[in-house]
Parts: sequence; structure tokens; C-alpha cells
Amino acid sequence: MSKGNYYITTPIYYPSANLHIGNTYTTVAADAIARFKKTTGYDTFFLTGTDEHGQKLQRIAEEKGVTPKEYIDVVVDGIKDLWKLMNIDYDKFIRTTDDYHKKTVQRIFKQLYDQGDIYKDHYEGRYCTPCESFWTETQLVNGNCPDCGRPVETAREEAYFFKMSKYADRLIEYIEANPDFIQPESRKNEMLNNFLRPGLQDLCVSRTTFDWGIPVSFDEKHVIYVWVDALSNYITALGYDQDNDELYQKYWPANVHLVGKDILRFHTIYWPIMLMALGLELPKQVFGHGWLLVDGGKMSKSKGNVVDPVVLVENFGVDAVRYYLLHEIPFGQDGIFNSELFIKKTNADLANDLGNLLNRTIAMLNKYFDGEIQPPTAKEDIDDELIKLALEAPGKVEARMDALKLPEALDEIWTLVRRSNKYIDETMPWILAKDEAKKERLGTVLYNLIESLRFVAVMVSSFLPDTSAKMSEQLKIELTSWDSVASFDGTKAGTKLGVGEPIFPRIDVEKKLEELEKIREAQIKANEVPQMEPIKPEITIEDFEKIDLRVAKVLECEPVKKAKKLLKLKLEFGTETRQVISGIAQYYKPEDLVGKYVVIVANLKPVKLRGELSEGMIIAASDDKDKLFVVNPGELPTGSVVR
Ligand code: MSP
Repeated sequence: MSKGNYYITTPIYYPSANLHIGNTYTTVAADAIARFKKTTGYDTFFLTGTDEHGQKLQRIAEEKGVTPKEYIDVVVDGIKDLWKLMNIDYDKFIRTTDDYHKKTVQRIFKQLYDQGDIYKDHYEGRYCTPCESFWTETQLVNGNCPDCGRPVETAREEAYFFKMSKYADRLIEYIEANPDFIQPESRKNEMLNNFLRPGLQDLCVSRTTFDWGIPVSFDEKHVIYVWVDALSNYITALGYDQDNDELYQKYWPANVHLVGKDILRFHTIYWPIMLMALGLELPKQVFGHGWLLVDGGKMSKSKGNVVDPVVLVENFGVDAVRYYLLHEIPFGQDGIFNSELFIKKTNADLANDLGNLLNRTIAMLNKYFDGEIQPPTAKEDIDDELIKLALEAPGKVEARMDALKLPEALDEIWTLVRRSNKYIDETMPWILAKDEAKKERLGTVLYNLIESLRFVAVMVSSFLPDTSAKMSEQLKIELTSWDSVASFDGTKAGTKLGVGEPIFPRIDVEKKLEELEKIREAQIKANEVPQMEPIKPEITIEDFEKIDLRVAKVLECEPVKKAKKLLKLKLEFGTETRQVISGIAQYYKPEDLVGKYVVIVANLKPVKLRGELSEGMIIAASDDKDKLFVVNPGELPTGSVVR
């Protein structure tokens, strides 16, 4: 029987975001919670998706020469693949370009306008014309556009605004009366003291400077500005204000919106106010988790410290990554991703504690009983502690999960894992095996270990689904519901187990770290954008015209003695010939150049290089590393002007 309904959401991701281990975190955590609720008997709905509108995406697509939708479709497929890889079991994936979403958002906007919560005015701010973007004073960098660095100007644009201030007092009251609404607690105070109490400004909710967005239905030159569009996804996905709103009726209000702390403000201020204005119930909780940092800083492409979840999964398996994210990051606070710690934790908790427990137990069963599970008929007092701990564990895990304390929930499971390892040391099955009279006791000890492992397999299934599946396969148990760990007798005597296989092979830390470093370097190299030399200070056309560029033809060419880099060229230049010394010997053999047309600076003051006269300079393009090409003007009469 269902314990009730449970609706959990992740933020919808920008397709422009470069998906790294940091933003994978929100979704992995939401997945573990959703799976847990399903396992423990809640009728659960888990929503994720993508936030596909806005100027940034329009611009990226333009640069790539495709439509925004064409560009986004490819990225969204990639995001879905990543979720598959991370074992994310969502119930619905919403895209804000989905038709039902767009239509519902238009209706929401119109309703808010009709009832006077949205009004038309002007947006005034600092505007960067080339970037077509408004910025606030605080966003400017040295008074210039933070994106392109160019000067900004004060500009006005017609825009719609949402009367946030009208609802501020009601929201403050609501937050104070519902202590669980914003979690963790510290973030609640930040929202109240930094944003709500000082007074809310009305929010600009439309734009006219780009068109990749949902048009305002009654004023089509405006598109709905991203947050009204994006936040509505939590109800449009359920069918709110649509023909079939069964899911909405069933699941709204959400039990928890799980979001990163950077977007908590939008979810705890703008979103509840929108819902109040629409006369809808507010979500029961918005949980703002912390930031995943790498060695103390944010991940960024330019720093080259982005941790790629795909590389980690390919090298260590999905559950090693899930375990680290769910266990090592205090839920609600910032945490650090560190490759060495990650490998060490995988070895210690997964390979040693859990993997070994499973492996040793199955190996002993094979050795002493040919793999056949014995009935637990020879109980001793020493078993009680283990059994009691196992029986109490599910309740403790559930209590931790109710408080969204994910690392602590895993700790409860690992307490049983470690206690079981200790039980092996205490009971010493290898000693029991030496005495035929203790055979029955040996069978009981192994039964208890297998039963403990069954408890672990069931409890760990929401966090590490693959591991749980592998364990149940080796233990030949069915992964039934949470109720199956209510009593310590689910393992069936007489079942014959096969030979086990290690579920987490031990990792050689040094070797793997080196491999990871090589992969990272290769990735950086592949992504490297060649750095362009800075442009020299501006010149006028008159300055340029002082330089006389002409076509010439190579008649003869030979190396300059004792100068590795230099070639001596005899050039046809109109009716004259000229001698030019050029530093291109590393790139061209003399015979390759004879007969070629080149461009020379014809009015450069002659100089002597290595005792040879050079009357001009050959123009060439080079990457300043290993490539150089002499500019080839084609077969024009020599002396022709180049400009
Ligand atoms: N599109 C908005 C959300 C709209 S919800 C109505 C957005 N998208 S995002 O792609 O930038 O971020 C998605 C999630 O990843 C957010 O929860 C964000 O906080 C989270 N993270 C991004 N980088 C992160 C870390 N380094 N660490 C942890 N979470 C991080 O915001």
C-alpha cells in the first residue's frame, strides 16, 4: 500500500552549461532520494529537464550557423545520455521548448497581466550594444560590459514587470510560519535578511532585444524572460491548466525542489510569489545544496580543472562516482572533489569494506558448503548484536533520509557493513571449519553474514543501484521492497550460490592518478582554443599606405652559409631583380621556392644579414610554433601592387 505521494524535482539545466561533476550532483542526489521514496512505499514522481530559452543559446546557435532548436536538440540528447550513464531514473524529462509548456506559460503570463500583477513599463539600465545585453551597475567590470569588455551606455527598453513587492510581506510570514520551507536553516536566514527584509524590487519578466523565448501572447514583440518560463516547468510538466491535469492534482504541491545554492533565491522568492499570485499552493520544501569545488575553487573550462563525470564512470564505474557524491559531500554544504581522495574512498569503503565482505562470505560458503546456504540452527549470543543492528538499520536510514541527510544515511548502512566484517573476525569461521562438531555453527555464521548482506543490498539500492543488483545476483536474492528487511530471516537455506566475483576491484592509486592526469591533459589539449596574438594599436589608412607591398617571383634560391634559418632569394621584380634574405629555411627547401610568386615589402630599408644584402621582406603567415606559409598572390605580373 502506498504511504502517500512524493514529488521531487531537480532544476532544469541550461543546455549551454558544460556538464561536469558539479552540476551532475543535483541530479544524482535527487535520483537517490526519489529511488528511496519509491522503495519505501511512496508513489513518487521525479522530474528533470532542460531550460532552453534565452539570448545566450540564441547567440551560440548563431555562431554555429544553426537554429537554436537544432543546436539544443543535440545537447539535450547528450544530457539524456549522461543521465543514463549516471543511472538516473527520472519519471519525466521536460523541455521548455515543449509545446504544452509554452502554451501554459503564455496563459500564466496573461492571467498575471489580466489580474494586474504584471504591468508594462520601461527597463532602464546599462546596455552593451554589441552584446545586446542589459547589466546592473554591480555586474559591470571596471564600468564595462562583463562579457566583451566594451563600454556600456544607459538605455531604456519597453518591458513587463512583475509586482514582487506586493507579495513580499505574505512571503515573509509564510517562511517564518513554515520552518521547513527553506532548508538548510542557514540559507533561510540568508534569504530573509539579504533579500526579503531589505525590500523586493519588481522583477523584469520580458525582453524585446532577442526572440528565442516564449512570446507574450498579447504583445508578440516581447518574449517572456527566462525565470517565469523556467520556474513554471514544475507545474506545466504535471499538466497544470491543461486538458489532462491528473498528475498535477496528484502531485502538487511538490515535496521538495532540490536546487544548488546559486539558484535558491529564484526558488524561494520569485517562485513562491508567482504561485501566490496564481492562487496555488507553495512547494513544501526548497532544499539548497552546496557547491562542489575542486581543490578549493570553482570548476571552469579556462582553469582546466573541470572534472568530467564520463571519464570517472568509464574508469571507476557509476557507483564509485555516486558513492563519492552522495557520501563525501555534506548535504547542504560545499564539498570538494579530489581525485586522490575519491580513489582512496572507493578502495576503502567500496572495495575493502563492502566488496570484501561479499567476496569473503561467498568464498567461505563455497569452500565449506559447496556454495549451499545452511539453516541458522546453531545460534549463539554473539549473533544478537549483529542481528539487532541489522534490524534497526532500515529505520535509521529512513529517518536520515526523511531529514535529507544522505551521507548519514549511507553511514548507517556502512555501520552494518563494518559490523559484519567484525563479526567474521569474532566468529573466525576458518577455525570453526577445522572442527567437524562445529559445522552447524559455521553454517549459522555464514547464514547471518549472507542475511546481513541482503539487508545491505536492499538498503543501498537507492544510492548504488548497480551494486545492489550485482549483490542480489550473487546472493540469489530478490530485491523486493523495504518491508523485506523487517525481519532477519529472508535468506533461504538450501539456495546454492555460485562463485562470487569482486564487485569493486582494488585500484592502484598512483597508477590511476597518472592515467587520469594524462586523460585530463589530452582533454585540455583537444579543447584548447589557439591564443591569438593581441592586435597592435590602431593605424590610419595613411599609415598603411606607407607600406609598399608588391608581387615578386623567385628566380633563384639557396641557403645562406653558416646560417641554419636563412635562405637567399633572387627575385624578379618588374624589370629589376632583387635579393632578399628570409628566415624561412626551416620550412622550405630552396628548390620548392624557385618559380613561386611571393609578396614582399618593397620599400623596407635594405639591411645586411650575415654579410648578405636584403632588399625587402617576404610576407609569410606563421603560428609561431611549427607552421609557416609564404603568402602566395598567384601569377600576377611581378611588381603588381598588393593592398
Ligand atoms: N536553468 C537554471 C535552473 C532553472 S530551474 C527552474 C540553472 N541551470 S544550470 O544548468 O546552470 O544548473 C543546474 C544545476 O547545477 C543547479 O542546481 C546548479 O546549482 C547546479 N550546479 C552547477 N554547478 C555546480 C557545482 N559546481 N556544484 C554543485 N552544483 C552545481 O541554473
